[in-house]
Amino acid sequence: MGTTAFSFPTRTLYGAGTLNELPANLQRLHVRRPIVVTDAGFARTDAFASLVKVLGAERLSRDWFVFAEVNPNPVEDDVRRPAALMRHHGCDGVIAIGGGSPLDAGKAARLLAKHPGASFQHFYSEALDWTGLAPLVAIPTTAGTGSEVGRSSVITLDATKRKAVIFHPELLAKLVILDPELTVGLPAKLTAATGADALTHCIESYTCPAFHPMCDGIALEGVRLIVEALPRAVRDGKDIEARGHMLVAAAMGAVAFQKDLGVVHSMAHPLSTICGMHHGLANALCLVAGMKFCAARKPGLYRRVGIACGLEVQRVTDAEADARTIAFVAQFLAGIGLDTRLGALGVTAAQLDALVLQAVEDPCHATNAVPVTREDFRSLYLEVI
Ligand SMILES: [Fe+2]
Repeated sequence: MGTTAFSFPTRTLYGAGTLNELPANLQRLHVRRPIVVTDAGFARTDAFASLVKVLGAERLSRDWFVFAEVNPNPVEDDVRRPAALMRHHGCDGVIAIGGGSPLDAGKAARLLAKHPGASFQHFYSEALDWTGLAPLVAIPTTAGTGSEVGRSSVITLDATKRKAVIFHPELLAKLVILDPELTVGLPAKLTAATGADALTHCIESYTCPAFHPMCDGIALEGVRLIVEALPRAVRDGKDIEARGHMLVAAAMGAVAFQKDLGVVHSMAHPLSTICGMHHGLANALCLVAGMKFCAARKPGLYRRVGIACGLEVQRVTDAEADARTIAFVAQFLAGIGLDTRLGALGVTAAQLDALVLQAVEDPCHATNAVPVTREDFRSLYLEVI
């Protein structure tokens, strides 16, 4: 039997209005001059106005600072510029707030603030001193990526124009604030797409074959929460309980996928890099095809996912349990408006070769429930195009 390491370390504040506890917690973390890292879109929201109020508008640019220009898919400059500001103003902490992109940029900026001369290639070197990074407070305003509890940061490198993953336990946030009031302004379409990302994290991490019963339990409860809360959050953005449950479920999905992901994420990643598709939407449109593919090769794989969805599939055959679960997921996604085909979103057969090539190279499917070949990817894409 192999050995393994389980870690669930992030302190998390949960509940409507928990943003108000930020100043006391900054003090607890000995952060006196934080920088807020976010994107331009978020800086125009009511949620950002709440943050300004909590930190003190009159103290802006004196005791706390803002970098609000992170790109949707962060590039090196989105890390370099806040890091330079941190050094210029003597900032001793980072508040990363927004979707997955500002959270990833904010995480990595601390490393560059400590090592201003380092190139991004250095980030993969064991020799780099990762200790003593400025503390990070992560505040998600979408419920999907779960980047707030992750120990990685995805940055598109200048030289290769490809996404690279910086991974280190020291990247973890010291504190996560899950305040559903910050997500009420998220439009229904984005609520659905980001929620589908969280659902895919839970289903793919639960079904990947690594031994990790703690993650498995978290993934299944994440499925149950999403099935109950996501349609409500899509229907009524001001449903605070549903918004809260989605925030927790998204964090649970990301905690669970430290176990790993699978074929659906390998299909989704190229749809973002080649076709510019939203990550959550890409997962949603590939999820059912991916589940059918895995179930055909490993019958019974989705029985417990079905039970988490509230289905009566305890006493039916493996094939029946999978079929009912997959039909439920298809109907669920359609119910929140995520049943489009790739073709309707501009993906063409001419892009197929490039998509297949990148999907094969993507690392996620290495941990899929069953092996996936180049030909498999081709027929999977054809099924959803
Ligand atoms: Fe994802």
